[in-house]
Amino acid sequence: MSSADPQGLQAVPEELQSREAWLEPFDWYARMRETAPVRYDPERRTWDVFRYDDVKRVLDDDDVFSVDPREATDFVEPEGPGEGLILDTMLFEDPPRHDELRGVVDEWFQPRTLADREPHFRELASELLDDAVGADGRLDVVEDLAYPFPVTVIAELLGVPASDRDRFKTWSNTLVEAASDDESADAFADRQQQIQMEMAQYFLEMIEDRREDPRDDLLSVIVTAESGAGGRLSREEALGMCILLLVAGNITTTNLIANAVRCFAEADGDLFDELRGDDRALTSAVEEVLRYRSPVQAMSRVATEDVTMRGETIEAGDRIIAWLGSANRDERQFEAADAFRPDRSPNQHVGFGHGTHYCLGAPLARLEAKVGLSELLDRVENVRLADVPLQPTRSSFIYGVESLPVRYDER
Ligand code: HEM
Repeated sequence: MSSADPQGLQAVPEELQSREAWLEPFDWYARMRETAPVRYDPERRTWDVFRYDDVKRVLDDDDVFSVDPREATDFVEPEGPGEGLILDTMLFEDPPRHDELRGVVDEWFQPRTLADREPHFRELASELLDDAVGADGRLDVVEDLAYPFPVTVIAELLGVPASDRDRFKTWSNTLVEAASDDESADAFADRQQQIQMEMAQYFLEMIEDRREDPRDDLLSVIVTAESGAGGRLSREEALGMCILLLVAGNITTTNLIANAVRCFAEADGDLFDELRGDDRALTSAVEEVLRYRSPVQAMSRVATEDVTMRGETIEAGDRIIAWLGSANRDERQFEAADAFRPDRSPNQHVGFGHGTHYCLGAPLARLEAKVGLSELLDRVENVRLADVPLQPTRSSFIYGVESLPVRYDER
């Protein structure tokens, strides 16, 4: 396992390696839930868990299933400068340190805090769409809205220039990328390390700047926690936090918005018409997108002790991939799980995970999806997917498409 792949998530199971399979992995998941719900894959040297109850158990039981990749028997200590920063974040720490790290920025992601910013977020989405929607009746949902909108929002919250967003895109994409056959493992690891060093350098400068000149942004909050009385964060943790916040909310939310347009366009009837002007219905439909085409399909853990699941013995130090995307299609939990039902209720999906590491940015992602999609619906009707083959996001755990060209009529 490469140290540039601390989660062991970058290897794609053989069954999902083709473009078609990764665009629609759901039949494979269904087969696995029935025939091998907990299985060991010797190629990737990891366990895979596919059923809803089992996925939830893995996510919920922090004592037995750690997020810390350093618990894995095949973990390789990072060597390069900057390479281990992502390990110093809440995502890879178990309680109690996890809770202290999350506590530094938690307040900023609460729905009531974000509500104050909604009008501004709406302006941002509106500006992007004013530029993109026109008489030619074409836009690329990813390029014109789903990518630039979340990255601008998180850049503003952090306090970094949104004009650097092309750079952020390269960073985010590289960090979630799957290893491919076209590149040697060493070259892939080098590229990953290079990107982490670039990010560290970028944020070091930003941190220095905020120390001199604090503002009303997350960077200043992080800097205060690093240097303030009690010094709650080390320098590495402060840098890791910046990197995590920039990366975690970008490609995920991009895919939520693009997957939503894909789901609405594929649905029976004119869902765009039904959802226009109805925030409650839109909010519920976004939850169903999170279940039906989950932007994050998989998350990883390491067993801290020997544990038996469905008759299989997982040994301490083994890695486990919890397939959220499969849990979200489990018929044992969801009636007609393979049907997209925008008004599904209840809808206890695990698209944002569950338990201690439940997504910090969930309220932000939900708000961005609601605002971005409602602004789009206000401007366009009769939306159809363009007749071009979809390309899946190049990642083994992030699920969506590289671009989503659509045709529409202007309203
Ligand atoms: C954690 C999904 C958006 C920040 C997670 C986890 C999932 C997830 C599944 C759990 C990880 C685990 O259990 O190991 C998503 C999806 C998003 C999204 C589907 C968009 C649709 C965001 C945004 C941000 C964010 C906008 C912030 C800017 C985080 C952080 C964690 C996290 C910091 C770690 C939380 C912890 O360890 O306590 N996310 N996320 N996410 N997410 Fe998100």
